[in-house]
Amino acid sequence: MAATHTGITEQVLSYQAPDPPVQEFEPPTDRAFFADPDKKSLLSAARELRKLTPYIGTELVGIQLSQLTDKQKDELALLVAERGVVFFRDQDLTLDQQYELNAHYGIQDRDPNQQDPKHVTILGRNSDIRKYGDYGGEYHCDHSFEANPPAYTMLRMIRTPQAGGDTLFTSQTALYDKLSPVFQKMFDGLHAIHSSEASFINSINNGYQPFRGPVRREHPLVRVHPVTKVKSLYYNPTFIVHLRELKGQESTHMLNFLREHLHAADDLTVRWKWTPGAVAFWDNRVVAHRAIPGGYDPSTREGKRTAVFGEKPVPVIEGDGSETLSQRIWRLGGEEASFEETKLYFNSPLV
Ligand SMILES: [Fe+2]
Repeated sequence: MAATHTGITEQVLSYQAPDPPVQEFEPPTDRAFFADPDKKSLLSAARELRKLTPYIGTELVGIQLSQLTDKQKDELALLVAERGVVFFRDQDLTLDQQYELNAHYGIQDRDPNQQDPKHVTILGRNSDIRKYGDYGGEYHCDHSFEANPPAYTMLRMIRTPQAGGDTLFTSQTALYDKLSPVFQKMFDGLHAIHSSEASFINSINNGYQPFRGPVRREHPLVRVHPVTKVKSLYYNPTFIVHLRELKGQESTHMLNFLREHLHAADDLTVRWKWTPGAVAFWDNRVVAHRAIPGGYDPSTREGKRTAVFGEKPVPVIEGDGSETLSQRIWRLGGEEASFEETKLYFNSPLV
């Protein structure tokens, strides 16, 4: 967490957002609950399933999202929940078809800065992520300051530069899994305050008119995925301002640790290079992402993002049947389990 000036200007102080905050509600049942655990219908339709990294990211080759049956859509939700993000290239999906697909997964969410009620237009950015006060280039999960932060989120890229504008996705289930048991237990009991204040101020100072005012909401720092029951960090360096149970400096240093833990996670991250017509479909509950700005003409990048409301983040509760990612891998067995033994020996033996 970097301390910055607040950016409070006359415009910020006098701005009246037209809409009230979104109230907490119970979203429809997650479609992944309805999926065949083997995903036979979806996987048999794909020409190839490419795991892009061991812990996150799968590319499905030979599938058109516009042609999926409802059964395949449900299986895709489960695959996304398990792999964090699923990618497709050369899609013929139109914007209306994207809305329709999104509606299968729940109720359309709306970002406070979203002009069109049905989607966010994602554009290129040419800023330097290292400059003082740069906003928007950091890892995040989309608008986690809401009572029901988004679950399934889709970005379809229409135009993209030949080089630049890649997106990084990092698995927060794996980030949690790679912590020592001592840190896992401590984090299980913590809550984070997510705030949209900096985003709100930044929007107004850049000439936008957010339609909801700034809010702060508290979510567990570790959440349980309702379908997979896997424990996941719910860390977000863009919106978290404080860890509720900790004192000031304790919170600052713990958040700095978490930021380093996320930024050093090359082994838990997939970097997606966009091409026109490519789609990323991710589970915002268990993945942090970041678009890489800089070095290209921002007008050459444009995509459409849709998202659905998720449940109020579920905390870890003793006896809830939740497990860590490696526990899940061991339970399911097979070749992957044989590679997943380092957790037992996470400290090198003394020599
Ligand atoms: Fe985002």
